[in-house]
Amino acid sequence: MKDLVIIGAGPGGFDTAIHAKEHGLDVTLIERHKVGGTCLNVGCIPTKTLYHNAKTIKNMKELDVFGVEVKDFKVNYETIKTRKETIVDNQINNILTSIKKLGIELIEGEASIIAPNKVEVNGEIIEAKNIIIATGSVSRRIPFPGDDFDIVHDSEDILSLETFPKKMIVIGAGVIGCEMATIFNHFDCEVTLVEYLDEILPPLDKDIKKRARNLYKRSGIKIYTKSVLKEVIKKDGKYFALVESKGKMLELETDYVLLATGRAPSFGNLDLDKLGIEYTNSGIKVNDNFETNVKSIYAIGDVTGILMLAHKATYDGYKVVSKILEKDMAINFNQVPSVVFSFPEIATVGVTEQELDGKEYRTNKYLFKTNAKAECLNETDGFIKMIVDGNDILVGVHIIGAHASDLIHEVTAIMYKKINIYEYQNIIHAHPTISEVVGECIKKF
Ligand code: FAD
Ligand code: NAI
Repeated sequence: MKDLVIIGAGPGGFDTAIHAKEHGLDVTLIERHKVGGTCLNVGCIPTKTLYHNAKTIKNMKELDVFGVEVKDFKVNYETIKTRKETIVDNQINNILTSIKKLGIELIEGEASIIAPNKVEVNGEIIEAKNIIIATGSVSRRIPFPGDDFDIVHDSEDILSLETFPKKMIVIGAGVIGCEMATIFNHFDCEVTLVEYLDEILPPLDKDIKKRARNLYKRSGIKIYTKSVLKEVIKKDGKYFALVESKGKMLELETDYVLLATGRAPSFGNLDLDKLGIEYTNSGIKVNDNFETNVKSIYAIGDVTGILMLAHKATYDGYKVVSKILEKDMAINFNQVPSVVFSFPEIATVGVTEQELDGKEYRTNKYLFKTNAKAECLNETDGFIKMIVDGNDILVGVHIIGAHASDLIHEVTAIMYKKINIYEYQNIIHAHPTISEVVGECIKKF
């Protein structure tokens, strides 16, 4: 009997398998498609390679600021595609090497759970003391007239484009929508963002999303909030998106419609009802140890519907392994850093001001434009905002600006250790670095 069988080899499944094996458990990992899951194959990694292509193009366009004259430059889309595929392949190979080196059993096939301690795959039955469901998520596509035109796609299709569109409408201004809108904007695509709610990036801190909206608009992206896509039509060989926006019907010409309206848990064809596993449309129900209501069956990552992030999926799995080994890991799931890889980057950890409504708290902001390194980099847009509670403990940090994705980890560590802000003020930041914005902001309390 195996100690652990994991269904799904995304960042939840494969990282947990490695972690479990390194801690002495006998593990089997089952994947029906490709190791790496959404993140590696059609999510984090391919989008971030495109992001860095877009950033390079952005930098090229700004070279005159640095006194470098470039008359013309050409973008080779074939190279962009090949580079992206090479990076994905290299990362998958790294995982496969670790799996092989550790002697983890990896089975290709679609698994089903036939009883609380029995998994079936390729006609074989594996008995397991513990089972983890790590089957991930899929795009949540909204139905509308014209959704079958071949210009309508989701985030998965857009990553295998042969040619880049000139005009794109992005439906949904969440994380995927804003990342894709700002990336394609730098590929000289005319981008329009359409969001159903009254703000873009709805769950983020109110000041951050306001600044993001202004900066996106300044870079040429058109934004319609409180707006809904009603239909896509074809007239005289051209496509138009009919968008109802604040009582008016807009007819927006486009050659690409990207649906970025959220993701739904994928139950991976598992018969949850037969097994008696409780779930809703948002995901499989779990407790703080990621246990389902059925003994020794756990669920981690996107399939639970709680914070769909790759690193969150991984740490969910670590928590399960610690539970199985009866060695509790004190992971704080209220302090999961997250990043929107748009231009500029946005990074956030902990609570927003909106969430603290009615509670005692103080905030401070520090602008990137006063930071010398940001000025050297010509990336002065943005700010850091810190929130401390009534006990002078940092409870939320929100950053928009250059290197936000790296800056967020220092404050995450401080928040984890619950260091008082006056003690935090004693920590020295080297000069000249972007990290000084953190030091300067904390000094203002
Ligand atoms: P998944 O990665 O979805 O993996 C689940 C795996 O289970 C799949 O490989 C699937 O084939 C397999 N499976 C399903 N059913 C079965 C079965 N019955 N038998 C065998 N195998 C099965 N997150 C970040 O943190 N940072 C980012 O920058 C980021 N960018 C993203 C960009 C895009 C465009 C998208 C779509 C997502 C992005 N995410 C990002 C989210 C991230 O990809 C997910 O949170 C993460 O992949 C979830 O991991 P998981 O292991 O839960 O599931
Ligand atoms: P999301 O939930 O972040 O955003 C979806 C947006 O679409 C919301 O703002 C919603 O109001 C809007 N919407 C829904 N229906 C609509 C309609 N009919 N018309 C107009 N707007 C509509 O989901 P998204 O962006 O698809 O991403 C899914 C998940 O993937 C995220 O929750 C995130 O966790 C993960 N992800 C993480 C990334 C990162 O960490 N950098 C990058 C990309 C995705």
